[in-house]
Amino acid sequence: DGKYTVTMIPGDGIGPEVSNAVKEIYDAANVPIKWEEVSVAPFIKDGKQTIPEESIVSIKKNTVALKGPLATPIGKGHVSLNLTLRRTFHLFANVRPCKSIEGFKTAYDNVDTVLIRENTEGEYSGIEHEVVDGVVQSIKLITYEASERVARYAFHHAEQNGRNKVTAVHKAPIMRMSDGMFLHACRQVAKEYPHIAYDEDLLDRACLRIVQDPAPYADRVMVMPNLYGDILSDMCAGLIGGLGLTPSGNIGKDASIFEAVHGSAPDIAGQDKANPTALLLSSIMMLRHMSLFDKADQIENAIFKTIAAGERTGDLGGKLGTRAFTDKIISRL
Ligand code: NAD
Ligand code: IPM
Ligand code: MN
Repeated sequence: DGKYTVTMIPGDGIGPEVSNAVKEIYDAANVPIKWEEVSVAPFIKDGKQTIPEESIVSIKKNTVALKGPLATPIGKGHVSLNLTLRRTFHLFANVRPCKSIEGFKTAYDNVDTVLIRENTEGEYSGIEHEVVDGVVQSIKLITYEASERVARYAFHHAEQNGRNKVTAVHKAPIMRMSDGMFLHACRQVAKEYPHIAYDEDLLDRACLRIVQDPAPYADRVMVMPNLYGDILSDMCAGLIGGLGLTPSGNIGKDASIFEAVHGSAPDIAGQDKANPTALLLSSIMMLRHMSLFDKADQIENAIFKTIAAGERTGDLGGKLGTRAFTDKIISRL
């Protein structure tokens, strides 16, 4: 029927509400996508936590998925399903752009950052143990292979998107071996891209600089180990109006999963309060990934016009619920 099939994971908390907004807007815009909805509710198999085979099969087959947030319980014995998905599909690069939204005023109007985090290892390796009572170790695992891979993706992304510099963000004076090797990989890859400038910035200094003046970050791509990217991407979200606005793409060789930067927002779940913009913009990254550029532009314009017109959800100081905001976007398609 000329349609692409895309896996949809509605997710927890506000997930079903914001996923529903995407589905309604896509129907209204006649986007040639058929959603294959799967759950990733975890279960224990042979003593190990796993996710339903049908979800893995679906993502493998479709190679593209849109995912709502999955709640990660804090405590022993639980593995984040988000990490399970990122690892299962070797989603080695997590692309997190953050751009000021025209017509929505924050302290800044010129934020245009692109952050790429290594997405499979670092502090997220899940290797932890108690050495003796009262002493634990959490291993930050860095491999040259994964560092080189994400660095190469960062340069490629910069080249494809007209950005003329890659900045590696690190803490190598302290994490001497791990971040040291990450930087070494970045430097090696930089040699393959002589037309793209390369420099390095300490994580703490980068945070300071970005909040003082984000303008110099508009021409470049930042690349960094996993945890730094997690933290810095929420910080960048704060500059433009919060987590209701920021998208991401988890990029792999054989599959890619697009999702908002935010989580399941249990404080507002089920109350028609969630801003669906972050997941919508993630879906627009997905459309461009699928080369559906016209539909991407059409929906993106409708979202930005709606926000600029002052028709907004509560997180942006507006009065609209998720559904009413969704209807306003549909009316502008
Ligand atoms: P969160 O992102 O869910 O919420 C942080 C704050 O931002 C809350 O006040 C929330 O109401 C607000 N917020 C988030 N998204 C919003 C939206 N679309 N519209 C309006 N307001 C929004 O972070 P948290 O509370 O630390 O985490 C909740 C759960 O989500 C945890 O279990 C966490 O592990 C999980 N989580 C999942 C993902 C993911 O699936 N990728 C990402 C982050 C957190
Ligand atoms: C994110 C989230 C995840 C992360 C959690 C839920 C595992 O915060 O996607 O930013 O830490 O990467
Ligand atoms: Mn995060």
